[in-house]
Amino acid sequence: MALVFDSARWETLAAMRTRGDVGDGIASVLALLGRPDVISFAGGFPDPDTFPRERIASLLQEFAATGESTAFQYAPTRGLAGALDVLADRLERDQGRRPADDELVITSGGIEALELIGKSFLDTGDVVVVEAPTYLGAIQSFRSFESDLVAVVLDDNGLDVAELEQRLADGLRPKLLYTIPDHQNPAGVSLTADRRDALVGLARHYGFLVVEDVAYRELGFAGDSLPSLWSIGPDIVVQVGTTSKTLFPGVRHGWAAGPAEAIDRLVAAKQVTDQCTGALGQRLFEEAARRGWIDDQLVRSRALYRRKSERMLAALERSMPESARWTLPRGGFFSWLTLPRVDAVELTGRAIEQGVAVVPGTLFFPDGRGTESLRLSFSLVDEDKIDDGIARLGSVVKTEPSST
Ligand SMILES: Cc1ncc(COP(=O)(O)O)c(C=O)c1O
Repeated sequence: MALVFDSARWETLAAMRTRGDVGDGIASVLALLGRPDVISFAGGFPDPDTFPRERIASLLQEFAATGESTAFQYAPTRGLAGALDVLADRLERDQGRRPADDELVITSGGIEALELIGKSFLDTGDVVVVEAPTYLGAIQSFRSFESDLVAVVLDDNGLDVAELEQRLADGLRPKLLYTIPDHQNPAGVSLTADRRDALVGLARHYGFLVVEDVAYRELGFAGDSLPSLWSIGPDIVVQVGTTSKTLFPGVRHGWAAGPAEAIDRLVAAKQVTDQCTGALGQRLFEEAARRGWIDDQLVRSRALYRRKSERMLAALERSMPESARWTLPRGGFFSWLTLPRVDAVELTGRAIEQGVAVVPGTLFFPDGRGTESLRLSFSLVDEDKIDDGIARLGSVVKTEPSST
């Protein structure tokens, strides 16, 4: 008798590591973006107005006209020499430290760097500390390696390093700690300078690797930044970066910088993931950086996101009840709204009915917390719809859910 490919059969065919529930978190956030009738504060996408379309189009023409072949060819696994050089220059300029050749790899976006770190360092049951709330993609990625995620809370000054210290003193023994120190996703807060030093000290003392995600680092509204964890602790920090928010995400392009012992392992893992990051994206990045286009774009992006953020915060002031609290971002894409005694998931459903999309806080915790919080993203929403969107959200918050 032939086997039937029903759901039970698929379940036994699937690898054990995929049977745990990694959730459809990112997919459910992206799904909300497609609805034109909804004012969306949901997705953390860059505003397309920041994309340098004409310049990129002329560059592609230039590649064709000059007979450039590199952009269209396979690339070395670690990255193209020119792109690596330009990236190392930028890191040196921004962070005061230039990675050596064996301390840098170009990845297919930040998310691939996280995947390579998981593949290279995590066995089933390994403990990974994440600040909570944290980036959904990181939760999904670390979970897919069957690691044990432990949440340490953050506050207005970033990861609560004193709480972490206490937990370590009490016996917590992580292999990795994942943090987003600048303009955090989803909380919109940044880690203070003294906490950065303390965190690196703890990593050295207890022997865990710090994964520093700098996705929003260059998007501080004032253009300033604190020392990166990687620059403070290049021996125990792997930095994960992306050009998705500073150039555009349509080519998957990012990096990992860290100790050669770690980066060599990521390069080995990458050989059997995608072999190399697309050469076209690497060449576009290289030329855009060399010609100063990324810096031009950053100036415009910071001004645009600052305006949107200020507008959203002013609207929250007008529309939210007394008890509501929200973070005051100094860069990035997000503010974190906390509404005591409100069921965020239920509220998200009612908000959609009123034409406004937000993401409930629970998605950003590995342990079910975040029930009274929402992530508000101001990056993609039309500037002139922000007031209306937040006013609608305010009315939903102030209306009691029906009990039926
Ligand atoms: C904190 C953080 N890290 C990494 C990423 C992934 O970026 P990429 O597009 O490079 O995969 C994102 C994207 O939203 C992010 O918010």
